[in-house]
Amino acid sequence: MAITYRHDVLIIGGGAAGLSLALRIADSHSVAIISKGSSKSGSTYFAQGGMSAVLNNEDSIESHIADTLNVGGSLADKETVTFTVERGPENIRWLQELGVPFSSEIFKSGKRQLHLTREGGHTHRRVVHAADSTGKALSETLENHARHHDNITFYEHHNAIDLITTEKQGETANPNTCIGAYVLNKKNDRVETFQARFVVLATGGASKVYLYTSNPDGSTGDGIAMAWRAGCSITNMEFNQFHPTCLYHPDAKSFLISEAVRGEGGKLLLPDGKQFMHRFDERAELAPRDIVARAIDHEMKRLGASCLYLDISHRSPAFIASHFPTIHQRCLQFGIDITKEPIPIVPAAHYTCGGVSTDLNGRTDVSHLYAIGETAHTGLHGSNRMASNSLLECLVFAQATAEHISTQVKSPHHHKEISSWDESQVTDSDEEVVISHNWDELRRFMWDYVGIVRTNKRLERAMHRASLLQQEIDEYYSNFRISSDLIELRNLALVSELIIRSAMLRKESRGLHYSLDYPVKDNASMARNTVLKPQQQSSTAKIKIIK
Ligand code: FAD
Ligand code: SIN
Repeated sequence: MAITYRHDVLIIGGGAAGLSLALRIADSHSVAIISKGSSKSGSTYFAQGGMSAVLNNEDSIESHIADTLNVGGSLADKETVTFTVERGPENIRWLQELGVPFSSEIFKSGKRQLHLTREGGHTHRRVVHAADSTGKALSETLENHARHHDNITFYEHHNAIDLITTEKQGETANPNTCIGAYVLNKKNDRVETFQARFVVLATGGASKVYLYTSNPDGSTGDGIAMAWRAGCSITNMEFNQFHPTCLYHPDAKSFLISEAVRGEGGKLLLPDGKQFMHRFDERAELAPRDIVARAIDHEMKRLGASCLYLDISHRSPAFIASHFPTIHQRCLQFGIDITKEPIPIVPAAHYTCGGVSTDLNGRTDVSHLYAIGETAHTGLHGSNRMASNSLLECLVFAQATAEHISTQVKSPHHHKEISSWDESQVTDSDEEVVISHNWDELRRFMWDYVGIVRTNKRLERAMHRASLLQQEIDEYYSNFRISSDLIELRNLALVSELIIRSAMLRKESRGLHYSLDYPVKDNASMARNTVLKPQQQSSTAKIKIIK
């Protein structure tokens, strides 16, 4: 007998966005939070640098807005930026009330205040942080409150497969409305039906599409893929952010060296110990991320070097130990003492600036379906996200979405019976190797052909491979029983296609999209978002009717 759960609000994702929304809505609505695993399955837990907000008298809302627009390369939407920045300080206060242990310092006046650090693109110190493990502090505090709330139920080790919409259920009445999701319970491999009045995608980003990434394994773009299959438009997928400084060590999987290290004076060095960033941008180490990552990539290729270096050893050991305890300890585990020597670094895929198109209330194109956090495209980041604006976006849009859902009439649950997941046509796979092989192949060609520097030819090659892989995966999906790896691979392949298609449409270089064939910015014809609509799908990515 298939299991069906019913809640007012189904939140898919338990990171900063999902947990904040749950806490903001749970007093009036019953909430389900489903996630692939523990709190470590999303990026939030690993966030280091912090969350930006204007909290200093020398800083101003106007300045934060101007910096965000400037880094966003003319594509950041002024209304969204203003909306987000203005709500920053109240969200920090909300987090302080919940008890997030942000770092503070005692000022000359004797008053204790939040310590604010700096990162690339910010003209002021405005990054609130908990030493260098802000995400852990945030995650643990939010989760602790959510676990004690009677109206919030956690479903961990549950992997959402697809959204259930009225259209997919064969109903013709407009508008197409989201009424739930099919979810794989990983503990017993059964597919369960979750029915809800409102569904919120808070599934994080898609950086796992690349071979080298700072992200945890769960960042497979599931929300973007599910939204696309449900009929939502997807915006600006060509803008993948590569973080300039991830630890380079054979045994260190995806460990980030925070931009705050550069904010506190860290210098980028070539293998011969010389600084080089001043040759690329007058802001040197504190230039926005797209510029720094491209400069590092350029110098590595020019010198044939396998990594470059980041040096903070000129600061005192006490300063390093108090500001960067996690990075200090982690590097020591790999035999690198950052108080004495430079850190070997390489760029890695870090953040998905594009995503599910939403308005200022988190609403998508499908009725009763919302998207918040990294999975959404709100217009905040434009062609490049400024450091520490992501956690801010998670919090602000969770708040806005909660407010919007609260204004909606609590209509009864969808009255017609939802068809349960049908496995009658599938068998157990006898070729699991296809999945692991395709995972590796996809992430490698995306890294090689759709990475920091792109060309028409490389994008064409990548598109060809993505189409072949999608055909193979679709066939596999139709014939064999569903598994988590298959769900993720299917989503990664679709998201790859969306990234490549968006990159092909942008015939210029702007922000995080850099093409050798179109090396300059074309404001005359390209100063606009790349919006893909499901009706324009390629032949290899047709909406699959739910089995
Ligand atoms: P996530 O925190 O990624 O959570 C996604 C959730 O969705 C997880 O619970 C996951 O299990 C769940 N999920 C995904 N797919 C499914 C599915 N199919 N079914 C069920 N559940 C699913 N940003 C900043 O602003 N400041 C920083 O200092 C900062 N540092 C960073 C450091 C690192 C190493 C990384 C990787 C990112 C950093 N970022 C930072 C970016 C920021 O952390 C993320 O953008 C943000 O945390 C995303 O939050 P989220 O709630 O949208 O998603
Ligand atoms: C970092 O600490 O460098 C990450 C900050 C971010 O991604 O915003």
